[in-house]
Amino acid sequence: MSLPILPTISTSCIVISAVFVAIGWSFIKKRKTQQHIKMMITAAIFALVFFIIYATRTIFIGNTSFGGPENIKIYYTIFLIFHITLATVGAVLGVISLWSGYKKKYQFHRKLGPFTSNVWFFTAITGVVVYMLLYVFYHGGETTSMIKAILGT
Ligand code: HEM
Repeated sequence: MSLPILPTISTSCIVISAVFVAIGWSFIKKRKTQQHIKMMITAAIFALVFFIIYATRTIFIGNTSFGGPENIKIYYTIFLIFHITLATVGAVLGVISLWSGYKKKYQFHRKLGPFTSNVWFFTAITGVVVYMLLYVFYHGGETTSMIKAILGT
């Protein structure tokens, strides 16, 4: 089985990022603030690497459309849109979490942090599922422009 290099690297980056968020959360539970900050910044760097690879590929190569059976394509599409929504919300919340931590707005940060972390965990899990559906369970369809890949046309 040959897996495409860029999507494999970028999906790995989301998973690694989520693992760092989990470690960062466990550190703050033990009141280890400095380690918490280091882990969350590392998580943010991995998320950024994912985004750079994803955006570069989207612009220069395009996105891959679903290559599985026609009758499950609609479920894949709904799931993909769900994942993209989670990722977008997670990215925005991630920036606000970093900012509120940096600005020492801890009362707000303590409320937002766990929510952001959970959104990010679901982003990673759904991202892996999308990756498996695209490249592991089925062979990726053609690589085409973003809008066409999402709508599967
Ligand atoms: C510059 C970045 C950050 C700094 C300086 C920072 C700092 C802190 C501090 C000092 C606390 C303890 C607050 C308190 O006990 O009053 C905390 C809690 C927390 N932070 Fe961060 N943080 C940062 C980034 C993040 C990010 C990006 C996330 C999530 C993705 C996050 C998730 C959490 C969570 C889950 C808690 C525990 C809340 C609780 O249950 O009490 N943090 N952070």
